[in-house]
Amino acid sequence: MGHAEPQVSTSLQPYWMPFSANKEFKAEPRLFSRAEGMYFYTPEGKPVIDASSGLFCVAAGHCRREIAEAVYQQLQTLDFTAPFLRAHPKAFELAQRVSEYTPAGLNRIFFVNSGSEAVDTAMKVALMFHRVRGQAQRQLFVSRERAYHGVNMGGIALAGMVNNRRAFGPGLAGVYHMRHTALPQNKFVRGQPGHGADLADDLQRLCNLYGGENIAACFVEPTAGSFGCLPPPKGYLDRLRKTCDDNGILLVFDEVITGWGRMGANFGAQAFGVTPDLMTMAKAITNGAQPMGAVAAKQDIYDAITDAGPKAGIEFFHGYTYSAHPASCAAGLAMMDIFRDEKLIDRAASMSPYFLDAMHSLADAPGVVDIRSIGMMAGVEVAAVGNPGARGHELQKKLYDRGLNLKSTGDTLIVAPAFIAEKSHIDEITNKIRDAIAN
Ligand SMILES: Cc1ncc(COP(=O)(O)O)c(C=O)c1O
Repeated sequence: MGHAEPQVSTSLQPYWMPFSANKEFKAEPRLFSRAEGMYFYTPEGKPVIDASSGLFCVAAGHCRREIAEAVYQQLQTLDFTAPFLRAHPKAFELAQRVSEYTPAGLNRIFFVNSGSEAVDTAMKVALMFHRVRGQAQRQLFVSRERAYHGVNMGGIALAGMVNNRRAFGPGLAGVYHMRHTALPQNKFVRGQPGHGADLADDLQRLCNLYGGENIAACFVEPTAGSFGCLPPPKGYLDRLRKTCDDNGILLVFDEVITGWGRMGANFGAQAFGVTPDLMTMAKAITNGAQPMGAVAAKQDIYDAITDAGPKAGIEFFHGYTYSAHPASCAAGLAMMDIFRDEKLIDRAASMSPYFLDAMHSLADAPGVVDIRSIGMMAGVEVAAVGNPGARGHELQKKLYDRGLNLKSTGDTLIVAPAFIAEKSHIDEITNKIRDAIAN
């Protein structure tokens, strides 16, 4: 340690916190002012182990000097250039490096600034792809209950978590939901559960009802993350793939959480052996150190859209001022070096069995009603006490006070440590959760 703890402003009122209990937080703030490796530090200097990689972002651990230095250098060299009709070399370099990790064929990379932007971008790519092929009638989308696809208007229309949509009206018309796969028979299963592949047939039912020829794309998280870790039943994703192929529908994997090693392979696509047509990613692409997301598209999709455009005109009217921001690209390239040099994804895969054993050892803790897990992610669900979600909320506060940070959703604690975690870190996380659940 030996660092001076940064001072915290005394006025907490002006900052309107996202997805937060503002009143409660401002009455009893739980702040972090510094981080290093597996730990955050409170303004008082107390270490808090990070069991959620920030928010599934910090795969290589906090405050990686290589990334900080790359961003610092970049901001002194080229701080900004418009990404429209202009570009800088690192954008091309990063797209190349990213495409070395995506499944074969998904080698065209569109940069954005967040997972939410990646999702809405993927929706527009799908619409555009069908339009240029003379199938502009394909304007419907299918997603799934309990899904999280970010918070932009496209993403909340796809969303299957009711609190994220109930206040905001109907959103986009023409988005239909398949049933989720959280079956009672699948409780306490480690890895992919055995029941529920047939739930993928909901997609064919929606095709039968609305006309498969009217559906643009089917969006799923390969493993639902924000809901609290819901791995796909064995055979489920293959079945979705087949139905998409049969009906000319694009399959989109939202890999904002499952990408970059979390499932023990580069992406969920490789972990589950199913290749989508489009893939979204964000978070760990820069280790969370700069905002960045991306859509990886099959080359055919890119070719169809660009070939259909005018000879010297814009082909796809979409992009963000900060798409491929130089500092984000610099962070992304430094992170690619870390993935390569530290074999970080292999490390996630080899630590996974120990991590999963540790998580499932919590099954006998009082009130634990389910544990779902895969790769380096687990959802530990406790029985509700009072309103649904109240116990989960209290637990995450109690855990902070006892030196552990994690994300809770409803009454599920989501554990997803950085891939640099040692066994001792996993033990510390497991013991703290066990104690907090028990007392
Ligand atoms: C699957 C998925 N999609 C999209 C998003 C939205 O990402 P962001 O918060 O960066 O907009 C998330 C965020 O957790 C996510 O898990």
